[in-house]
Amino acid sequence: MDYAASSDIAHRKITTLRLKEMKKAGIKITCLTAYDALISRILDESGIDVILVGDSLGNVFQGNDTTLPVTLEETIYHTKAVVRGSSRALVIADMPFMSFQVSPEEAFRNAGRVMKETGCSAVKLEGGKLVVDAIARMTEAGIPAMGHLGLTPQSINKFGTYKARGTNEEEADQILEDARLLEQAGVFAIVLEKIPAELGKRITESIEIPTIGIGAGPHCDGQILVYSDMLGLTIDFSPRFVRRYARLYDDIKDAVTRFSDDVRNSKFPTEQESY
Ligand code: KIV
Repeated sequence: MDYAASSDIAHRKITTLRLKEMKKAGIKITCLTAYDALISRILDESGIDVILVGDSLGNVFQGNDTTLPVTLEETIYHTKAVVRGSSRALVIADMPFMSFQVSPEEAFRNAGRVMKETGCSAVKLEGGKLVVDAIARMTEAGIPAMGHLGLTPQSINKFGTYKARGTNEEEADQILEDARLLEQAGVFAIVLEKIPAELGKRITESIEIPTIGIGAGPHCDGQILVYSDMLGLTIDFSPRFVRRYARLYDDIKDAVTRFSDDVRNSKFPTEQESY
């Protein structure tokens, strides 16, 4: 469907229901991450449908090697900022490592805190059948949950590698089965990370809820990227699935160098820039 022609959807506040309608209507869903109000506002005003406060903030914002150190308090802090910067997009908070694995009750309580304290519209949890009870508990109580299958970065120490998942039949069937279980438990959408395009297609066609791909091929109902990767702010991370739409690392470096040159050569500030 031509998105521009469907101006109704283009201007309406995005809800979890709207995402399901978009899948039905064949309108692709656009998603990016954000961790602060400044970027959130730019993404929102550019018409992005979903803003994920990913636990990738552990890498991007905090400079860690993995997402594991991110805490619930930090997730709440960043999600509050992103909610303040947005108005149309659906803001989803990523539940950090160990905030939902201990028990469905603890997961439910933590997700409730995130919703109550941040004003976000939904949470995301990594994992398949192990999180099904937690998701059912949340859905029942009115907390919309998004699933995340395929490469799940919080399990890096279990797998020991960030390579693609679902590349053999057994693992592919397991991921498909997990997608069905998550759907039955009540998730409103599922992120599929770094799996073969063919498996992305199979899952997308097998479930009624939207799939959002990151390195999961073109057949998913939507696509997500980490904002700093697609804007070229990160230069040392370039997996095949990242397309760079800008070169902000170079642009910022250039601007900072010119500022420093101007200051050092007494060219800034001028009389017009002074009081
Ligand atoms: O944390 C994150 O940014 C994510 C996306 C990559 C899906 O989970």
